[in-house]
Amino acid sequence: MDVVEEFALPLAIEVIADLLGIDASNHQRVRAWSRMLVSPSASSERNTQKTQRLRQVMEDFVTYLTHLCAERRRRPRPDLISALIMAEEAGDQLSQDELFSMVLLILIVGHETSVHLISNCVLNLAERPALAAILRESPEQIPAAVEELIRFDGPVERATMRFVAKDMRWHGATLRRGDGVSLILASAHRDPGCCPAPDVLDITRTGVKHLGFGLGPHYCLGAPLARIEAQIAINTLLQKLPGISLALPRAQLRWHSNPILHGVKQLPICWPDR
Ligand code: HEM
Repeated sequence: MDVVEEFALPLAIEVIADLLGIDASNHQRVRAWSRMLVSPSASSERNTQKTQRLRQVMEDFVTYLTHLCAERRRRPRPDLISALIMAEEAGDQLSQDELFSMVLLILIVGHETSVHLISNCVLNLAERPALAAILRESPEQIPAAVEELIRFDGPVERATMRFVAKDMRWHGATLRRGDGVSLILASAHRDPGCCPAPDVLDITRTGVKHLGFGLGPHYCLGAPLARIEAQIAINTLLQKLPGISLALPRAQLRWHSNPILHGVKQLPICWPDR
C-alpha cells in the first residue's frame, strides 16, 4: 500500500477536520481543496490558468466556511470552529477574516505536517525491521521512538522566516536590522551539540531537547495532537501489519521539493502474507 495516500493522509484529514467541526460528508472536499492550496502551483503566479483555478478553489472554500460559520454561530457545537467564534479577549472577538485565516491555518498545517511525520516514521521503521519488531513487542517505547524520529528525520525542515530586530554579530557573521534569517531545524538536529552520534537513530536516548516543534512563542500549537496521532498510527500499523518493508529501493522514492516540509510523495510498503 501507499502509506501517504492510503493511511497517513486520510487519518490526518479525518482528525483535524473532525476537531474543527467539519462534517464527515465534507471531508473529501476539504481534502481536495487543501491539497490544491498547498500544491507548488499555489505559490507560482506565472501560470494564469492555474492561478484562476486556485482562485476558484479559494472562493469555493470561503463560501463553504461562510455557511459553516454562520451555522455554528446560530447553533454552536462542541468543536473548534464554535470555540473560535465564541473566543473573546478583553471584549474583542475574531473578525470573519481572522476566523477564516485561523481555520485555514489549522486545517492546512494540521494535516500536511502530520502526514509527513507519520510517513517519515513509517519509512524509517520499514528500513529497520529489528526496531519495528521491538516497538511491536513493546509499544510503551513508541512515544520515545516518535521523539527520536522527529529529531532524526522530522517533517519540518525549517522554521518560518525570522527577521533581525537590530544590527548584530552572530558566529562571525554581521546581521543587519531587517535581514531575513532561515532557521534550519534539521541541521540543528544533526549537530553534535544536540546529542552524541547525531546521525544514528537511537530510541533509547534520554534528555534530548529537539526543535522539531519549534521553540518559544511560536512553539507548535498542534504538538500534543501530532504526537498522539503519530503514536497511534505507528502502534496500529505495527500491530496489524507485522514485517513491513519498503516496496522499492529508497533511491526511487520521490520527495516533495518544499523548502519547509520534508516528506515523500508516495511511500509504497509491503508485508508478508500471514
Ligand atoms: C495536529 C497537527 C498540527 C497543528 C494543528 C499545528 C499547528 C501549528 C501552528 C498553528 C503553528 C504556528 C504557531 C505560531 O506561529 O504561533 C505551528 C508551528 C510549528 N509547528 Fe505545528 N502543527 C501541527 C503539527 C506539526 C508537526 C507534526 C510538526 C513537526 C514535527 C510541527 C512543527 C511545527 C514547528 C517547527 C512550528 C514552529 C514554526 C516556527 O517557529 O517558525 N507541527 N504549528
